Amino acid sequence: MRSYTLIAPAKINLHLEILGVRPDAYHELVMILQSINLSDEISVQASDTQAIRVRCNHPEVPADNSNIAYKAAELMATEFPSTFAKYGGVNITINKRIPVAAGLAGGSTNAAAVLVGIDLLWKLGLTQSELEELGAQLGSDVPFCVAGGTAIATGRGEQLSPLPSLDNIYIVLAKFRSLAVSTPWAYKTYRQQFGDSYLKDTDSLTTRAAAIHSGPIVKAILNQDATEIAQKLHNDLERVVLPEYPQVLQLRETFASAGVLGTMMSGSGPSVFAICESQQQAEEVKLRVRETIPDEDLELFVTRMTSHGIQIASSV
Ligand code: C5P
Repeated sequence: MRSYTLIAPAKINLHLEILGVRPDAYHELVMILQSINLSDEISVQASDTQAIRVRCNHPEVPADNSNIAYKAAELMATEFPSTFAKYGGVNITINKRIPVAAGLAGGSTNAAAVLVGIDLLWKLGLTQSELEELGAQLGSDVPFCVAGGTAIATGRGEQLSPLPSLDNIYIVLAKFRSLAVSTPWAYKTYRQQFGDSYLKDTDSLTTRAAAIHSGPIVKAILNQDATEIAQKLHNDLERVVLPEYPQVLQLRETFASAGVLGTMMSGSGPSVFAICESQQQAEEVKLRVRETIPDEDLELFVTRMTSHGIQIASSV
C-alpha cells in the first residue's frame, strides 16, 4: 500500500494580541507565528478497508475520531467522496515528539500533515491556498501549519500574510509534562477579565492590525535581528495564564535570570520559549534551567526557528 511520511513542525507565537470578539464567538487576533524545528512525523498510508485509523505513540493522544488528525482525514473524505471511494481508507501513524496541549500547535500541525498527505495519496493536486482553506475548517492554527515559516495571522488566526523567514535563531523550549492549559479556558477567562477593552468596530481592528504590519517587531524580523525580536515578544494570554499557573511564571523567570535575549509563553501555554544568541548559549541555558529546576516533569528542548511547514520525508 502506498504511503507518505511527512515532517510536521511545531510553532511558537512571537506575538499574540487579542483585539476583540467575533460574531462566531472566536476572538479577533493579530499574531506572528513562527515554525520551529521540533517536529512530529506523520505517515499516511492507503488502506483497502474504507476506514480511517489513527495510531500514536503518545498515550495521551486519542486514536479515535476526536483526534484532529482523524478529523482532517474525515474532512478530505467528505470533500472528495468519489476519490475516497476510489482510493479507500487511510491509516495515519503519528510519531509524537511535540509536547501535547502545550500551545505549540502540535495537533494543528498533525492535521495539516494529514491534509497534505491525503492530497498526495489521492493525487488531488490541491494548491497551498486550497489546503489552507480546508485547514481553517479544522482549527485556527492549521492553515499556518501547511506552509509554516514566519507569518502574520489575523482574523481567527487563519488569514496569513507571510514574512521573510527566520532560519537560524536558536531557542530553548520548556514545558512541565503534566501541566496542560485549555485553550478555550484561556480565551474565555481573558474575555471575562479584559473584554471591556475590546475593539468594537472594523475600522479600529484594521488600524490595529496595520500597526503590527508596520511596527517594531516586524521591522526586527525584516532585519533578522534576534536581539530586537526577543525584546518585542508579546502574548496577551500571559495575563490570564501566569496568575493561574505559577510554574509558567517560574519558567519565564528562570529563563530571564539565565541571561537569554527574551522569553515568552507560546500560544495559550503552558510551554515557554527563550530566544538565545547562539546554539551554544541555548545548550548552556538548558543546563542552567535543568540545574535550577531539577524536576523530572520538566521537558527541555534546544531547537531553532525554521522556514518550512509540512515537508515530505519519504514515500513508498
Ligand atoms: O480554532 P481552534 O480549535 O484551535 O481553537 C481552540 C479554542 O480557542 C476555540 O474553541 C476558542 O475557544 C479559542 N479561540 C478563540 N479565538 C481564536 C482562536 C481560538 O477564542 N481566534
